Amino acid sequence: MKKALNPKKVKSIYNYSYGYYDLLHTMGTFRMDERGRKHLVEKIVKPEDYILDAGGGTGLTALKAAKRLNENGKIVILDFSEKMLEKANAKAKRLGLSDKIETRLGDMYEIPYPDDTFDSVLSTYSTCPLENPMKAVDEMLRVLKPGGVLGIAHSSDPENKVARWLSSKIENVIWKFPGLSLGCRNIELMTGIQRLDVEILEDKIIGFVPFYFRIILVKKR
Ligand SMILES: C[S@@+](CC[C@H](N)C(=O)[O-])C[C@H]1O[C@@H](n2cnc3c(N)ncnc32)[C@H](O)[C@@H]1O
Repeated sequence: MKKALNPKKVKSIYNYSYGYYDLLHTMGTFRMDERGRKHLVEKIVKPEDYILDAGGGTGLTALKAAKRLNENGKIVILDFSEKMLEKANAKAKRLGLSDKIETRLGDMYEIPYPDDTFDSVLSTYSTCPLENPMKAVDEMLRVLKPGGVLGIAHSSDPENKVARWLSSKIENVIWKFPGLSLGCRNIELMTGIQRLDVEILEDKIIGFVPFYFRIILVKKR
């Protein structure tokens, strides 16, 4: 696992790239990222849920989730980049979904909500730039209600050795350009998650060279 960029640098990357982030991330991953978002939303979101999208950025996942909510449902997009949140708000307004979306400036390491607040929590590609992704997983579980589901999608090494070799070569090149990598690198969370008191509902890797994403769903006991 590569050493993460420092959080100030990560924040400045997103405050700079918010205008082209959606295009870069979706086209740059040949829309494989969208498969992960769609999968988690379909598996997790229930119409009346109060949901947290941690590191939700411009709302690519939250807006999909919002479309499935009824008048009682709501989704909070938490992010530490003001500009990413501004973009999320503008998109929600354009799509007529502002009443279902709330944005909150904050850090995934110290999520500004009490324990057991949300029915479900989503994190799509937002643990990848973190220095200590497990600390964010602990926080996301803290604010999740018992019985609620946490869904994570993150960049991952593939299982196949040849694919892993090829992906790491390409990742090494992309990593040299923070405006391209967006500070995201392949991480590994499952070893840490297995030590937690959670029920693992799903764990699979999707993708093709060089982009692989691990999809993890866990239920808080
Ligand atoms: C790769 S983007 C993912 C955005 C969105 N979840 C998606 O699926 O497109 C990573 C996001 O995590 C946010 N982020 C990174 N570190 C964070 C932290 N410590 N606290 C809150 N947000 C953070 C960034 O600002 C960025 O919006």
